Formats: sequence, C-alpha cells, structure tokens
Amino acid sequence: MPSLAPTAKAASSIKPSKLTGLRTVSIVGTGSYLPKKVLSNADLEKMVETSDEWITTRTGICERRIAALDECTSDLGAEAARKAIQNAGISADDIDLIICATITPDMPFPCTSALIQARIEASRAACFDIEAACSGFIFALEIARQFVMSGTYQTVLAVASEKLSSIVDWKDRNTCVLFGDGAGAAILQHRSGSKGILASSLGANGKHGELLCMPAGGAKNPSSLATVNSGMHFLKMSGREVYKHAILAMQQAAKAALAGSGLKMENLACIIPHQANIRIIEGLAERLRVPIEKFFINLNKYGNMSAASAAVALDEGARQGRFQRGDFILIIAFGAGLTWGATVLEW
Ligand code: UT7
Repeated sequence: MPSLAPTAKAASSIKPSKLTGLRTVSIVGTGSYLPKKVLSNADLEKMVETSDEWITTRTGICERRIAALDECTSDLGAEAARKAIQNAGISADDIDLIICATITPDMPFPCTSALIQARIEASRAACFDIEAACSGFIFALEIARQFVMSGTYQTVLAVASEKLSSIVDWKDRNTCVLFGDGAGAAILQHRSGSKGILASSLGANGKHGELLCMPAGGAKNPSSLATVNSGMHFLKMSGREVYKHAILAMQQAAKAALAGSGLKMENLACIIPHQANIRIIEGLAERLRVPIEKFFINLNKYGNMSAASAAVALDEGARQGRFQRGDFILIIAFGAGLTWGATVLEW
C-alpha cells in the first residue's frame, strides 16, 4: 500500500504562537446539539440485514441520533452555536466571523454558516463554510486561530454540523449503521494568561478521494434522474481501505502536533479522537502508547457524525469534567479527502 500519511518531513506542525507580536488564541466556550430521535441497532435490524452484535463488535456503536425531516444542518448548528455563545459568556453581536465545517450543507449555496448567522442573529459576522469531512472541525479551529492570532478578528465561531442521515443510503448496510446527525461549536478568542492552541498539524492526500465520497450532485455528475436511479447521490465508502489509512494518518498528525507544542504524551489530560470506530481508537491508543482511558469516547451514543464528532466530544468532555482549565488536550481527526489533522491546546 502506498504511504498515505504525511512523512516525518511533511507532517510539520503549525505553531505560530511562537512568532512575536501574535496573540495566543483559546477556546473560551463550547456547545453541542443532538437531535432527539434515537435510532438503535435494534431499529436497524428491522431495516437492513444486520445485527446488534455485528455493529457493536465491529464499530462500538449502539445508537445514533437522526434529525427530524424539517430539521436542517443549519438548525443543528444554530442550536450548538447558541449554547457555545452562552457558555463563553458573550453575545451573538460579538462574533466577527462564523466558519461552518460540513459535508451536508443545507444546500450547495448559500453557505450554511450564513444560514446559522441569520438564525442566531450574529449580524456583524462574516461567514464561510469549509469542507474537510471528518477533519473539518480541526481545520475550522486552525483557520479561526489564524484570524484571531493575527488580530484581524476578536471573536470567531467555529461550528461543525452534519445531517448525514440525508446522504446515507438506508438500504446499504455497509454504511447506514455507521453515521448519525449532530452539531458542535466553539468560540475562539484571545484569553490573557492562557496559552490556548499550542500547535496543529493538518494534512491531506487527494489520491484516495474515491475511497469515501458522494459521487453526484456536483459539477462532475450534476443531479439527474440517472444519478438518482443509480444511487450516486448517496455517501459511498470503501470501509476496509479507509480503515487501513485512518490509524497511521492520525498517529502521525498527533505526533507532529505534539512535537510542535513542545509537550509529551504524558502531559495530556485527555485525547479527543474522531469517533468513527472503537477499533480505530483502540489501534491509535496502542500506536501512541497511551492508555485507552485517556481517550474521550462517545461513539456508542452517536455513531460517526463526521466533522461534528470531535466538536461534540470536546463539548461533552468539558461538561463531564474530563479536563479542566489549564489542562492540555489533543484533538485528532481523519476523514474523506483524505484529510487529517491534530491540535494540541491548553483548555
Ligand atoms: O469517518 C471517516 C472515516 N471513516 C472511517 O474511519 C471508517 C473506517 N472503516 C471502518 O470503520 C470499518 O471498515 C467498517 C466498520 C466500515 C467495516 O468493518 P470491517 O471490519 O472493515 O468490515 P468489512 O467491511 O471488511 O466487512 C466484513 C463483513 C463483510 O461480509 P463478507 O464479505 O466477509 O461476507 C460485509 O459484507 O461484514 C459484512 N458487513 C455487515 N454485516 C452485518 C458489512 N456491514 C455489515 C453490517 N451488518 N452492517
């Protein structure tokens, strides 16, 4: 298999806080929102040829949340954003920029971040979306950091929101058991006395884009009766191939970010991984030589929510007291693109 993950040379970390004159950037508040409807493995047994035993042993997922028909990605994102705003103790008017990471925008345009802006009434904010699939929240955090660090903006809202149920083929047991809907959000500002985000490492390998994609609905295969009849508007994944790359890419991204931060693995209070598969997280723990207990895991409740997974896990980890202000944490993700990223920060 050709090497996917960044080489030691390529996997450099971004640590601009060491540059003089630039401000440190912290996450000053988080929020998350999960739709009410729970879809259990037992429910899926009635929809496709699968079993609770297969899903739990192969993935660790027990149930996932499904948005209502009239609930869009922007609705989920707006709810998570409202909670993050409240948690940060700011008002929507303070927000200068909204970045939304999603692969399930309400529609190709306008951007979902602008729809969220309207819902939360953050009328001063500029808006754009980014698309880095499951790594999207880490990419959004890093972009947000650049804007605040440079002094361009004071307050940035990074939202990761997904309604994956809208692109999943509910007849394909290979994929439909894996995904769920949800949203997480973070407010980034300079906070004096905190180091904030210490270093990040981002990467991609577009040569493997076909392993996880939605073939139709874009410029290559515009939506038509033919694309719908052949199911090209659904998410497609070569699960086993993606699996092979996931652990190595996340391991290398984590090591590069950690090296950039100047910290050691034992300095970390908690690791927030992308929540795709418990076996991937266990493999990562083994490769990083970190006890599994250090990882925050909630995929049993929500499945894989793409960009929203790490964002929701960060918010839940904080609310559950898994890390405190002043602790160092590591967030790691991997996804379609292929893309990957890791961020080390002082909470
Ligand atoms: O989020 C971003 C990136 N995504 C990931 O990181 C996902 C990475 N991949 C994975 O997590 C795993 O590859 C999966 C969970 C998707 C699949 O697990 P696996 O152990 O790699 O299974 P497999 O695809 O190799 O399939 C094994 C068997 C097959 O049957 P045969 O060919 O051995 O007879 C599948 O047809 O399991 C079968 N299978 C199922 N059986 C019952 C696949 N899906 C199901 C199912 N229920 N839902």
